[in-house]
Amino acid sequence: MRDAPFAAASRLTGLGTSIFTEMSALAERTGSINLGQGFPDEDGPPEVLRAAIEAIEAGHNQYAPLPGVPPLREAIAAHQRSRYGLEHEDVQVTFGATEAISAGLLGLCDPGDEVIALDPFYDSYRAGAAFAGARLVGVPLQPPKWRFDPAGLAAAVTERTRMLLLNTPHNPTGRVLDRTELEAIAAVCVKHDLVAISDEVYEHLVFDGEHVPLATLPGMAERTLTVSSIGKTFSVTGWKTGWACGPAELVAALRGAKQFMTFAGGTPLQHAAAAALAIAEEHGARLAAELEAKRDRLCDGLERAGAEVLRPAGTYFVNADVRPLGYDDGVVFCRELPERAGVVAIPTSVFCADPGRVRSLVRFAFCKREAVIDEAAARLGRLRCPT
Ligand SMILES: Cc1ncc(COP(=O)(O)O)c(C=O)c1O
Repeated sequence: MRDAPFAAASRLTGLGTSIFTEMSALAERTGSINLGQGFPDEDGPPEVLRAAIEAIEAGHNQYAPLPGVPPLREAIAAHQRSRYGLEHEDVQVTFGATEAISAGLLGLCDPGDEVIALDPFYDSYRAGAAFAGARLVGVPLQPPKWRFDPAGLAAAVTERTRMLLLNTPHNPTGRVLDRTELEAIAAVCVKHDLVAISDEVYEHLVFDGEHVPLATLPGMAERTLTVSSIGKTFSVTGWKTGWACGPAELVAALRGAKQFMTFAGGTPLQHAAAAALAIAEEHGARLAAELEAKRDRLCDGLERAGAEVLRPAGTYFVNADVRPLGYDDGVVFCRELPERAGVVAIPTSVFCADPGRVRSLVRFAFCKREAVIDEAAARLGRLRCPT
């Protein structure tokens, strides 16, 4: 066995991966409240959980067809049609949005291609691009409002640019892009004949404004793969059941890669996801209202603690500037926070290709029970007056 680290493996794992592991270990060792990881501490709706059990008992336990089980593909198509008026040519079920994104990158990008993404970006994007031999090019979202410069986006396009990989509502910033911004993105895609993958996993978790799918903009339906999953909307992140839908040619490219990544599975969860999507509107609206209240609870707590809060319009993440707490580096703050206050958070810089601009920002998740948020806020409050 070679003793040097495997170059390919270390190329794919950046600071982002190691800090998540480090923070989870710190949370465990110090008994801290973990607001670093973005998953809910409450289960999804009982009828959805029951649907999974019933699917197993009904014998849906073998490989699914490669595109996904028909009831789920139909439920995804119906969701897109009734919620957004979108008629997709094809639908592919995947192991979470993550697999849809990786398979889309693999199926659509050649080695040496460039993929434009808003920076900061969800941590799998860079690895997904690297799998394909492509390079991620960041267009900065500028705090505190998290807007991008349309001229900067246009200038990021080169002759190697193949794809725009969008995420709205956006992790880690909580930004929900508005129509004007989406129009600027669409104009660049159309002008340069780019394909787009639009990651919309937080589509139901919007508090201010509205979620506008990129594919609904003129000229975009024919060049966009819309990606989502049930993890966030139904508080079942561990089910990893997602999808990509769009033009037949783009879905076929993604499917070709997915076929040799994992083929098809999670069959009972696919059936349960179909049942879940039937109640997406009511459940999504209820969850968004609950999360909005939780957002305000945590934001108020962070403000009382002295941090400067960048209140999000969607998702379940809030960023706070910790300079008023005496830290200009979020990484140092996050390493000390568990010992000092018994809370774990994640430095926003780990989501950035260009970390300097967000150095003093820290991301907190508020998809936790109210009592947990209140306890975290109380602990953070003690940062100001150390005993
Ligand atoms: C922006 C974004 N995309 C994709 C995912 C992953 O989705 P899934 O669990 O369905 O793979 C996440 C999860 O945190 C996310 O924040």
